[in-house]
Amino acid sequence: MRRIVLAVAAAAIGATAVIAQNVGVIDERQKLLKDMSKTTKPVGAMFKGEAEFDLAKVQAALKAIQETAPRLPPLFPDNSKTGGDTEALPVIWDEKADFEDRFKKLADAAKAAEATITDEATFPDTWKQVMGNCSGCHKKYRKPKS
Ligand code: HEC
Repeated sequence: MRRIVLAVAAAAIGATAVIAQNVGVIDERQKLLKDMSKTTKPVGAMFKGEAEFDLAKVQAALKAIQETAPRLPPLFPDNSKTGGDTEALPVIWDEKADFEDRFKKLADAAKAAEATITDEATFPDTWKQVMGNCSGCHKKYRKPKS
């Protein structure tokens, strides 16, 4: 009897640990994505002509993308398909190689853009290309906004 109680208790603790772990990883990836978008948002305003062009902010955003993108693929483990308020779609885990490759392409595009964008004239086209990596992935792998 005592042994059964202990086993049940251990199983319950185990289950809680698993849930805590996947919610933790979901929180972590959402925070990284949010932090990255804090640097790209002001640049988006420049792109739309709603803010003055500022090369330093553009370059900072491109650096933040390069630092963040490689940290994201490991934050989508198999046990994090659901949980928390994740907007990740299950198809991520069916097409993992393509999904991970998109983070690499994003980082590569940001690196190339760092060299290409040197002033206001060279900004819009290249910025649009970089950001196309975000929307392209969201379209396929993130729940659409309701
Ligand atoms: C390879 C795919 C991929 C790329 C590339 C990508 N994202 Fe995402 N993004 C996702 C997924 C998947 C989610 C949903 C994550 C979740 O809720 O678990 C997400 C969520 C987000 C969120 C919401 C985070 C939150 O608070 O819940 C923001 C903001 C975001 N992405 C910004 C960006 C920006 C900006 C870029 C480009 C610089 C980008 N993403 C590129 C896949 C991607």
